[in-house]
Amino acid sequence: MIWYPYEQMKTMKAPYEIVDAEGVYLYTEDQKLIDSVSSWWCMIHGYKHPELTAAIKEQADHFCHVMLGGLTHEPVQRLSQKLQTFLPGDLDYCFFSDSGSVGVEVALKMALQYNTNLGRKRPMVLALEHAYHGDTFKAMEVGDDEDYHFAFDEKKEVVHIPTEVSALEEAFEKYHDKLNCFIVEPLLQGAGGMRMYDIFFLERARQLCSQYDVLLIFDEVATGFGRTGNRFVADLVLPDILVLGKALTGGYIGHAVTVANHKVFQAFYSDDDRHALMHGPTFMGNALACAVALKGIEIFEREDYMSKIKRIEEISHREMDGFTDPRIKEVRIMGGCTCIEVYDSKTLEGFQQFAYERGVFSRPFLKYMYAMVPYIIGEEDLVKIFDTMKEWFR
Ligand SMILES: Cc1ncc(COP(=O)(O)O)c(C=O)c1O
Repeated sequence: MIWYPYEQMKTMKAPYEIVDAEGVYLYTEDQKLIDSVSSWWCMIHGYKHPELTAAIKEQADHFCHVMLGGLTHEPVQRLSQKLQTFLPGDLDYCFFSDSGSVGVEVALKMALQYNTNLGRKRPMVLALEHAYHGDTFKAMEVGDDEDYHFAFDEKKEVVHIPTEVSALEEAFEKYHDKLNCFIVEPLLQGAGGMRMYDIFFLERARQLCSQYDVLLIFDEVATGFGRTGNRFVADLVLPDILVLGKALTGGYIGHAVTVANHKVFQAFYSDDDRHALMHGPTFMGNALACAVALKGIEIFEREDYMSKIKRIEEISHREMDGFTDPRIKEVRIMGGCTCIEVYDSKTLEGFQQFAYERGVFSRPFLKYMYAMVPYIIGEEDLVKIFDTMKEWFR
């Protein structure tokens, strides 16, 4: 029996069974659906992309996987080289893992051990209210989302602040000599409710982190590869550690990378074995994942995805700006993300089936109805998603 995620198995409604998928479409036996959430935000190139599928097949003809313990291979070498030039600043040191949550764990371990290696005791982490960084234990601890993690109350060494400069400054004043890092989902907090905030906050965070040698970690598992309308938020404000996942492999195979800058790497680079990073997931640097990631980045650049995202954002504004209803608290748009927040989660009960019947797959959660579409979507399909969202309130 399959145990489904985030579901009360006793009362959950039957999931839609997908028999095929191509481009932005999911197919059930009796319905063609536009995927408005890109399979949890990762499927940026769409399904069954011929070049991505070919990249996987070609690599599979050589080998699918070898471990990185004592072995290496061309796809992982090429991907780390590519990321080194593709990512801003001196974010040059790539530690691969198998999922976003594990990528976050690795970043948090790096930040803690960075200090240990420098002979400092800095046990605390600064994080944001409403943060979501994954479902493994340490990732949960830096998260601040009761709706996901209420059953595991473990917040010993983590301070959560709102996205306000005054709160940030106060936290640094109080805790700067205890903090090893400040971790954020930059500009757009996804699972915490598609909350959007200003770049000034991150600029001030950068200044304070540099002043007190607190590592700034950007969890761009969701925001990376264009979702906010920026290639990476790291292009605007440079973190010390960057975590990528989801769209890294175009959604074809789970993989993540935790990328450190020179300063972080140097703290581990020593003659002392005890300064090494003790982490090593079995599937890190998986050859199929690296091959598909390389092809995905090539397409992202070649097809000028940033202009596609700009177009999605323009259409989103055109279709959704000014849309109101007494049940709606706010409509928010940033890059390739549009969110309608309602006052009462009951307002959205039944919307998924309503959308299904109109040919759209949607997965609203709590008080949030949203679209995070594949970047290859055409205008007609995008408008259909927004029409379906608006129609629900009529
Ligand atoms: C910002 C952020 N970090 C980490 C994760 C966890 O990634 P994964 O589900 O691949 O473990 C997610 C997943 O939604 C996320 O949105």
